[in-house]
Amino acid sequence: MKKIVLSGIRPTGQLHLGNYLGALCNFVKMQQEGIYDSYFFIADLHALTTNPDPALLHENVRNVVAEYLAAGLEPDKSTIFVQSDVPEVSELYLLLNMHVGIGELMRTAAFKDKARKALGITTAPSADDDADMAKEIIGAQSNKRVNAGLLTYPTLMAVDILIQRANFVPVGKDQEQHLELTRRFARRFNAFYKVDYFEEPQNFNFGNAAVKVPGLDGSGKMGKSEGNCLYLADDEKTLRKKVMRAVTDAGPTEPNQPMAEPVQNLFTILKLVAPQELVQQFTDAYNDCSIRYGDLKKALADHIVALTTPIRERIIDIKNDDAYLARVLRQGAEQARERASATLRDVREIMGITPFWK
Ligand code: ADP
Ligand code: TRP
Repeated sequence: MKKIVLSGIRPTGQLHLGNYLGALCNFVKMQQEGIYDSYFFIADLHALTTNPDPALLHENVRNVVAEYLAAGLEPDKSTIFVQSDVPEVSELYLLLNMHVGIGELMRTAAFKDKARKALGITTAPSADDDADMAKEIIGAQSNKRVNAGLLTYPTLMAVDILIQRANFVPVGKDQEQHLELTRRFARRFNAFYKVDYFEEPQNFNFGNAAVKVPGLDGSGKMGKSEGNCLYLADDEKTLRKKVMRAVTDAGPTEPNQPMAEPVQNLFTILKLVAPQELVQQFTDAYNDCSIRYGDLKKALADHIVALTTPIRERIIDIKNDDAYLARVLRQGAEQARERASATLRDVREIMGITPFWK
């Protein structure tokens, strides 16, 4: 039996270099290995947690499908589908929620982050952050509510994974806590019903540590909501401009001086897109203080452009091919539902939800 690989991305905008290097390029590599059954989907139900504009959401699903295909996912090798096309996911989400604690959900980093945004809290988290946050959430006016979908985001993600009985889930570092919760829910389900039903899924990065692509604005990660993205769909001129504007410092003044975070960030991205010798060359130049950041940025831009240009060209063609997109997603939905409905049938039976009339 082939091992199952599954991952998804929320359709909240165009995909950026962080999505590509942290997730999508591993999807493609795993597909190419040919030794897995792979499932890659667009997490449109997860996107609802931030209440997007309906027309924009629909357009963004189209973007992400086109970007998946442009990056190299192939419908004959992988099951490519939209989450909401598999209604079994929503039912299992209801069932699994009966075994998930509100407290553990409230303590996840991504929830706290999003809840702070919803509540308009801008101060740094205090030592007593969990308790403060709980008070704020309970006392929130309805115009600043933290919606229940946001809280149960990890349940839905666990369901995506468990319903396909996935073994490997290629995701970036920021998703590791959600994966840990998925494993916990799987163990808890098995223990409660005294079954050995769900396996525990693992992250997968081809033996490398999980990747975090930083932004070029000095600190933090590259992210859609951070406004610091290099998009796969950006044209060459835009990409070069963004890279040349990256934050640096005044340059090293002493040999082997530790790197400031913004400079470190440029090297982090360079390592992911350029050959090792080039990285070494610039590292040596930094260490003997001969580095010129302009040269570093130019080399970085060259490699990013070389990586993304073929993808961008394919995105444009695929995005306008409605018939092709429809064909891919219909086939994907059918394949994904087949496995999902088998799992749902088993889980209903394990939980005692079986009809009397059959
Ligand atoms: P964003 O943070 O831009 O909203 P998502 O949360 O939709 O992106 O992430 C989709 C996938 O891309 C996930 O697997 C996530 O781990 C990965 N990812 C997103 N940003 C980065 C980044 N800066 N570095 C590495 N991986 C990332
Ligand atoms: N939470 C993931 C993100 O924000 C997207 C996602 C939803 C996902 N369901 C998943 C990723 C299942 C892997 C597996 O990026």
